Amino acid sequence: MKKITEICCVGAGYVGGPTMAVIANQCPEINVTVVDINQKRIDDWNDENLDKLPIYEPGLKEIVGENRNKNLFFSTEVDKAIDKAQMIFISVNTPTKTYGKGKGQAADLKFIELCARNIAEVAKDDKIVVEKSTLPVRTAQAIKSILDNTGKGVHFEVLSNPEFLAEGTAIDDLLHADRVLIGGDDTPTGKAAKDALSLVYENWIPKEKILQTNVWSSELSKLVANAFLAQRVSSINSISALCEMTDANVQEVSKAIGFDSRIGPKFLQASVGFGGSCFQKDILNLVYIARSYGLSEVADYWEQVIIMNDYQKRRFAENIITTLYNTVSGKKIVMYGWAFKKDTNDTRESAAIYVADALLEEKAEIVVYDPKVSEERIYADLEYLGSRDPNVNRELLKVVNDPIEATEKAHAVAIMTEWDEFKALDWEKVFENMLKPAFLFDGRRLLETQKMEDIGFKYYKIGES
Ligand code: UDX
Ligand code: UDX
Repeated sequence: MKKITEICCVGAGYVGGPTMAVIANQCPEINVTVVDINQKRIDDWNDENLDKLPIYEPGLKEIVGENRNKNLFFSTEVDKAIDKAQMIFISVNTPTKTYGKGKGQAADLKFIELCARNIAEVAKDDKIVVEKSTLPVRTAQAIKSILDNTGKGVHFEVLSNPEFLAEGTAIDDLLHADRVLIGGDDTPTGKAAKDALSLVYENWIPKEKILQTNVWSSELSKLVANAFLAQRVSSINSISALCEMTDANVQEVSKAIGFDSRIGPKFLQASVGFGGSCFQKDILNLVYIARSYGLSEVADYWEQVIIMNDYQKRRFAENIITTLYNTVSGKKIVMYGWAFKKDTNDTRESAAIYVADALLEEKAEIVVYDPKVSEERIYADLEYLGSRDPNVNRELLKVVNDPIEATEKAHAVAIMTEWDEFKALDWEKVFENMLKPAFLFDGRRLLETQKMEDIGFKYYKIGES
């Protein structure tokens, strides 16, 4: 089997960027070129100032600094990189379709198809094509068909190698992966391709953690892993609502059930609702596939995970409105955090967007502070929902850089993201700044109830009455 020395990755996003940086870092004998059609993105990856990388991940800038322009390259010359590579990762985005058949559920595969056609057109020798993007089951087959029918007679092997990294801990997840999954054909060439990719990972991942399966199992496992994780969050969030009615404490319930080794303690943190680019999209995908095979009970079952998540976001917003005497019109509400979780600047599907939208609908005046998310991103997220004239969003919602100043004469503060710095804030000062009664809504269960009540806050914590 030929050892891989040249890798190309199409798509320099949250998945492609960190994954390739780690491969380059762990495999000094492999040249890795990450390409993207977005010039600005590539320029940012090449910025001399490592604080300006397009993606923030703890540990990422150090690795990029170490390997960039040695065996890690960022470029917009897509064809050149494809031509040179023996192995090509496809890591372009697969948003939920916003039009036509499958609208709002199915993944839009147009970028994947473009990418496959591009590879077929350029490739002059045999290539291993690796699906890194999360895709509906059986997409590999479509990719293979495009490659074989439009290629120039060279041999393509298509593998599925789903990504399990979580944002905010991407580098650590990549370096210390629980497992690496490689799906491919069980033919001799398919097996050789799986082994070739396995060898890349064996540079730092113990061999017993590298699982080889058929393509469909690999594609489906990725969706199922995310669906199970999201289901845990929705399950505990459903219980949080019950806790608020019954004087039970969701933290105590999580702990009590998590001690059961069959259940385990992780992913039982009640919150204002899960966000991120994957959970909702992957479940919608699963639902769509199940439905398209006529499995409506299966589809309904998984769809409920999303329905529960929407309920949790709505419930949080409605609680703010009811608590503030049933009107938030003209009231200043400070939102701490906009990212979908801490330690990332990613805001895709963040609960904060939907809570803000619901409050804006009631004409609240919102002030947002997030340590990593830009003002433009926040406005873009709201505009994407299309609920109202973008100018109204800009009038009613302001983005600030000082979390304390933000609370001057505020009616309420809502914690949306569990940034560590919110724990260490001068909460006495916040209280002093605010109008009384000072309402504090903790959507992340970040603060200590007793301490906040002692300061004087009317403190509401998800999952406690
Ligand atoms: C994406 C998908 O959203 C996810 O489903 C999958 O698991 C991995 O890829 P992410 O890396 O977070 O995740 O997406 P994003 O940050 O949007 O990056 C994709 C990049 O691909 C963008 O920079 C985009 O410019 C680039 N792209 C897209 C291309 O280079 N060519 C295209 O034809 C389309
Ligand atoms: C997820 C998967 O974890 C990862 O394996 C996959 O490759 C991509 O999707 P990510 O979306 O980056 O990763 O973050 P994750 O840590 O899973 O959190 C997702 C959302 O669930 C966040 O909004 C988070 O705040 C929320 N969450 C998570 C909870 O509300 N409670 C929990 O107990 C855990």
